[in-house]
Amino acid sequence: MLGDQLKSNIVLTGFMGVGKTAVGKQLAQLLQMEFIDTDQLIEESVMKIPDIFRLYGEDRFRREEMLAVKKAAACSNCVIATGGGVVLNPENIKALRSRGWIVLLTARPEVIVDRLKDEATRPLLQQADDKIKAIRELLDAREKYYRNCDLFIDTSDLSVSQVAEEIIRQLGIPVADK
Ligand code: S3P
Repeated sequence: MLGDQLKSNIVLTGFMGVGKTAVGKQLAQLLQMEFIDTDQLIEESVMKIPDIFRLYGEDRFRREEMLAVKKAAACSNCVIATGGGVVLNPENIKALRSRGWIVLLTARPEVIVDRLKDEATRPLLQQADDKIKAIRELLDAREKYYRNCDLFIDTSDLSVSQVAEEIIRQLGIPVADK
């Protein structure tokens, strides 16, 4: 159960387009928990993410991401949605895991492309002519990092509510008690 082992946070991670933010908001509402989005923390304290990539590069973004993760990881009773690359730094996962369960949301590459088709806010996919290929390559490179999570949910054929309910079910949280 969520409260066991002093873990009171639920951390949602996974590739771009798997629904971390949408699911996180719904989950927080269902469980009456606070919702935090690490990408949003970065944008509030620095600037829009595409601008960080464009002006300063990915390394700077990853440093800002680590600071945002530290801040988010310190909270209690929070649903934390992370950016898709948070797993690349083991320090991030260590910090988030100290108070939270790490839930990996996944989706098939075709589903990810479809969900992101009207978006222009993902610098890592913006340049690619062949989006499916770019997604597959990034997923392959990240596979070993994504494996280091506590729960795994394929969101490809589920609605936002169904994913939120599945997380609650797998964590064994008694919703009525919250
Ligand atoms: C990134 C994912 C993005 C954002 C940044 C880098 C990644 O967040 O943090 O563009 O490395 O996968 P979302 O997963 O919320 O799109």
